[in-house]
This record gives sequence, C-alpha cells and structure tokens, in this order.
Amino acid sequence: MRSIFAKILVWSLGTFVLSLIAFWAISRMIDRRMRVGDPFPRMISLIEDDACRVYEEGGAERLSAHLRRLNAYLHAEHILTDSEGRDLATGEDRSDLISRSRVRHDHGRLDDGRMIFIGRPRHGKYYFINIVRPLFESRQILPYYSLIVVVIAVMGFVLAVHLAAPLRRLRGVVERFGRGELAARADSKRKDEIGELSRAFDEMAGRIETLMLAERRLLQDVSHELRSPLARLGFAVELARSGPDADRDRALDRVRKEADRMSELIGELIELTRVEGDRGAWNAEIVSLDALLDQIIKDCEWEAGARRRRIVLKIERSVMVMGEHELLHRAVENVVRNALRHTPEGTTVDVDLSTRDDRALIRVRDFGSGVPEESLSAIFKPFFRVEIDRDRASGGVGLGLAIAHRAVDLHHGRIEARNVSPGLEVTIELPLARQDDEHIRVASA
Ligand SMILES: Nc1ncnc2c1ncn2[C@@H]1O[C@H](COP(=O)(O)OP(=O)(O)O)[C@@H](O)[C@H]1O
Ligand SMILES: [Mg+2]
Repeated sequence: MRSIFAKILVWSLGTFVLSLIAFWAISRMIDRRMRVGDPFPRMISLIEDDACRVYEEGGAERLSAHLRRLNAYLHAEHILTDSEGRDLATGEDRSDLISRSRVRHDHGRLDDGRMIFIGRPRHGKYYFINIVRPLFESRQILPYYSLIVVVIAVMGFVLAVHLAAPLRRLRGVVERFGRGELAARADSKRKDEIGELSRAFDEMAGRIETLMLAERRLLQDVSHELRSPLARLGFAVELARSGPDADRDRALDRVRKEADRMSELIGELIELTRVEGDRGAWNAEIVSLDALLDQIIKDCEWEAGARRRRIVLKIERSVMVMGEHELLHRAVENVVRNALRHTPEGTTVDVDLSTRDDRALIRVRDFGSGVPEESLSAIFKPFFRVEIDRDRASGGVGLGLAIAHRAVDLHHGRIEARNVSPGLEVTIELPLARQDDEHIRVASA
C-alpha cells in the first residue's frame, strides 16, 4: 500500500473494527458473569411452579385462563405440557416444540425467528414452554453499523484528502524545481508539519536560487574578464613576431603583464570559490580579532611606510569571534589594502576594533576620494571597479571586496561602506563568540 491516502482509510476502518471486536468480547464477558447470579432463571422457575400449581388445583380450564393472562402480561406465549409433550390446557401435541430445544438456557427457534425456552418443573413431570420474540436481532443492528462504517470512511477520506493533497502539491513543486524551474515555491500557509516542510523547502530553494544565479553571473563575468587580456595577449604576440625589434621588448613586457594579471585573476577566483566551499569542511574556531588585526597591520606596515602612508590601529578591548581564521584574515586584509591603496600620500588609514551589543565592529577608514554614492553597494560585487580604478594598473581584479563580502556573510556578519568625506569607511560587523564557544581552542593569530 503505497499511498498515504489508502493507509489512512485502512487505519481508520481497522481501528473501528478492532473497537467493535473489543466491544463484543467485553459484552460477552459481562453476560457470562451476569448469568451466575442472574435472578432471571429463578423468576422463571417461580412462574413455572405457579403454572403447575394452578393446573394441579384447577385443571385445564384454570390453567388456560392463567396462561392467557401470563401471555398478555409478558408478551410471550407460555405452554405447559405433560412429560409426553401433550398440552395440558388444550390437549394438543407439542412434542415438536420440545424437540426443537434443549432444557433451560439453550434455546431453539421457530421458523418466524421466535425463541423457544424449555423448563422442566416438578422434577421433570412437566414441560414448561416459553416462546418469545427476541428483543433485538443482530440483523436489525446491521444497518446502524453500516452507517457508522460509512461515516468513518467519509471522515477518513476527508482526513486523507487534507493530508495527501498538500503533499502531492509539494511534490509537484519539488519536481518543478528539480527540473530547473528555480523560481518554483510551495508558498504554504498551513501551520502544521506539512506547512513547516513547505517553508523549509522554500527557504532552501531560495538559497539555491541565489547561489545558482550568483554562480551563473560570476561565470559570465569571468569569461568577460578573461577575454580582454587574452585579446591583448594575442595582439602582443603578433606584434612580437612581426614588429620591429624595439616593439618586441614592449610586446613581451605586455605578454608578461597580461599573464600575471590572468594568473592573479585565477588566484583570486580560487579564493572566492574556496570561501563558498563546503561548510561541512569548515574549521571553525575561536578567533581573536585583536591578534588578527595586529598581524595584518604588521604585514602591511612596511609597504605603507615605503609609500609614505601610516596605519593607526586602535583596539578598545580584546574581542573573540567564532569562525575560520583564514577567511576572516582574507576579508579584513582586503579592506585594509584597499584603504592603503586609495588614501593619498602623507595621510593615515585608521583601523579600530570595538564591540556593540553582541557584535564585534571593525572600522577601516581612509582619506581618499571615496566611492560614488550609487556604487557603495556595487563595490562588493565580483569584478566591479569604480570607473577611474578600472584602467589603473595597480590593484586587484575587482574580486577583493566580493571575497570579503562572502566571507563575512558566511560568518553571519555584515560588511558595509559609506563615504565619510574625505575618504571611505568600511565597517565589518561580526557576532561575538558566545561563552559556551570558549572551550574550542583559541586560534593562534
Ligand atoms: N578605500 C577605497 N576608496 C575608494 N574606492 C574603493 C576603496 N575600496 C574599494 N574601492 C572601489 O571598489 C572597487 C572594488 O574593490 P575590490 O573588490 O577590492 O577590487 P580591487 O581592489 O581589486 O579593485 C575598487 O576597484 C575601487 O573602485
Ligand atoms: Mg581590493
């Protein structure tokens, strides 16, 4: 039985039949118990004795009057015979009635369904025959039972429809999604488990859709980004082959530069996909942000000094977050290096670390030209570079902030940029490590 639908029907009917059997067994049991102390047989022997006494004292006539009264009173037929089966009131032969039944509780039946009970009062001298119509017949109750079965079947049907239909609908949505219709959603308003399942599916589908779209866009961007250096490479090679000697060196320089650029691009791409990699393989640990910042600043300081810029680090207190050290390092370093690149000669890059509520805040501020207001969120997209930076030989390929954004996102944090004229301020917000995370080893910065 494969469908929930049939299962529910069978289960509800099965439960009904079981309860019916239990009901029947219990009533049988009660019936048995009752019989032992039942006053009924004793009452019957009283009636039997009475009839015998009337016959012995008053003969057939009195007996017949007595039995008529009894019949009217008890809505049954009563007959007293001698031991041969001859009716003592009318003289008729009743032995066929007697042969139909055995003595006492076991009864026989007449063709019209009436029951025959036989008693043997006065130590077997007489037969006392009692013919009654049964109070109820199982045949009479049958329609009621059938009605109940029908009602239960209808209720089971309604329940089955109620459960199976939304499941089928959800399956349809899952199948559509599986066939590549990424916008397929269940959109269930139900409050039960099926509703929860539908919402969980919708959430998953949403995440997959975003990821797939981002991936597709990235692939387009990558192809686009690779095309121009490749074209320039081809051009340079052509020039090196056919041009005058003076051009050859320039062309080879060009080849070298374009190759470097592509290698950098691919390096960054690998980094970006690594950030997106399998979260199950994550090496989550407690990361000390102050140690991490110290390390980054130390690495950048030499380069900054050489270019006559300074980094000023301000740490309010020691701050711990939960995450992957390598990824967080990447994210922050990208932001700091951008600031260093954009801040003018003789100015500083201010980096400070603080906390607000249960979040850690890293702010990186430079004194450069900032970013056009409308591009403030676009700079976190892969390959986006502000116009004037596009031709600049220095700097990366436009993936640095995209990597930072994804890394911070994976840590349930936020990264934002705003202009503080002069300069740009990038804020990274990360959830602080909770007390119960502390048992995980502290990463050495
Ligand atoms: N501190 C900054 N000041 C001005 N512009 C910035 C700053 N940081 C980033 N940008 C802009 O955002 C773009 C994207 O940055 P990023 O992703 O790091 O790429 P890249 O550094 O490789 O150009 C940069 O090309 C630049 O136009
Ligand atoms: Mg950068």
